[in-house]
Amino acid sequence: MFPVRRMRRLRINESIRDMLRENTINGDRLVMPVFVDENIKSKKELSALPGIYTHSPESYMDYVMDLEKNRVRSILLFGVPETKDSKGTSSYDRNGVVQKAIDYAKSSTRMNIVADLCLCEYTDHGHCGLVEGGYVNNDRTLEIYQKIALSYAEAGVDIIAPSGMMDGQVRAIREALDGEGFENVIIMAYSSKYSSNLYGPFREAAQSTPGFGDRKSYQMDYSNSMEAMREIDLDIKEGADIVMVKPALFYLDIISKAKELYNMPLAAYNVSGEYTMIMSAIKNGYLGKDTINEAVTSIFRAGADIVISYFTEALLREKMS
Ligand code: PBG
Ligand code: ZN
Repeated sequence: MFPVRRMRRLRINESIRDMLRENTINGDRLVMPVFVDENIKSKKELSALPGIYTHSPESYMDYVMDLEKNRVRSILLFGVPETKDSKGTSSYDRNGVVQKAIDYAKSSTRMNIVADLCLCEYTDHGHCGLVEGGYVNNDRTLEIYQKIALSYAEAGVDIIAPSGMMDGQVRAIREALDGEGFENVIIMAYSSKYSSNLYGPFREAAQSTPGFGDRKSYQMDYSNSMEAMREIDLDIKEGADIVMVKPALFYLDIISKAKELYNMPLAAYNVSGEYTMIMSAIKNGYLGKDTINEAVTSIFRAGADIVISYFTEALLREKMS
């Protein structure tokens, strides 16, 4: 009781505060998303993601080397293919955009290479699965996901991250991988991925906006939290090695609950719209730069073990100087 318990004692100066800090941003646990677009000749800054570029297959090569120099330990790859069709066949091309990007990064860096597995960048309708009669068919989509997983594994990927929210996707991918001797390829499942307004800027980069309708018949309703726990529970039973909550900042309650309920490595995706909101306010002078640290720290504090964030590169580059 006061005056014996003076809380301000532990806030007296910076070095005391540093010593007692409960949570910090751990660079080893940050993942940088990277976009490679086969249709462009040089890198292009994304208008809604200031400071973030889509790369051409060539500019990507220099970029991954730079990332490693700037202490980035892990990247999450997204590809935009030259050709799209109704079945997204370019997604499992052995010489596809992501497959080549995996191969290059594995042979020229020591970073952990994570590859997003989905169909929306590869289908002409922009949905995450095969469309039949206006509905995304779950089980036929799984067969394609298995082919993509094998093509990534053959390219040498470390971690596969299925983001399409099809039921049974983790199990289907695990079986395909194990059937071909890829039992050590890790699956980081986008387990509770919400149908969020915050993916807009990403879809500009990945060119994956659905041509009709929305993703509400497969991504989760943002009003729900118990359902997120059921999704995570199922992915664990299907064999996920790492589970994920996405987005992160409006979903800190979900992250915290998942960490409490499951003894599993937990990732959180600090998505494009979260980056855009914060960066716009900083660029306009409405918020200070430390807002970035506060936001990313809050995701770790909520319980995330791994944070995927567009702030990764800037955070790690700043640490060096
Ligand atoms: C594709 C995918 C999306 C994101 C990651 N993988 C977009 C979507 O579901 O429409 C969003 C990432 C971001 O906004 O940063 N399935
Ligand atoms: Zn998708």
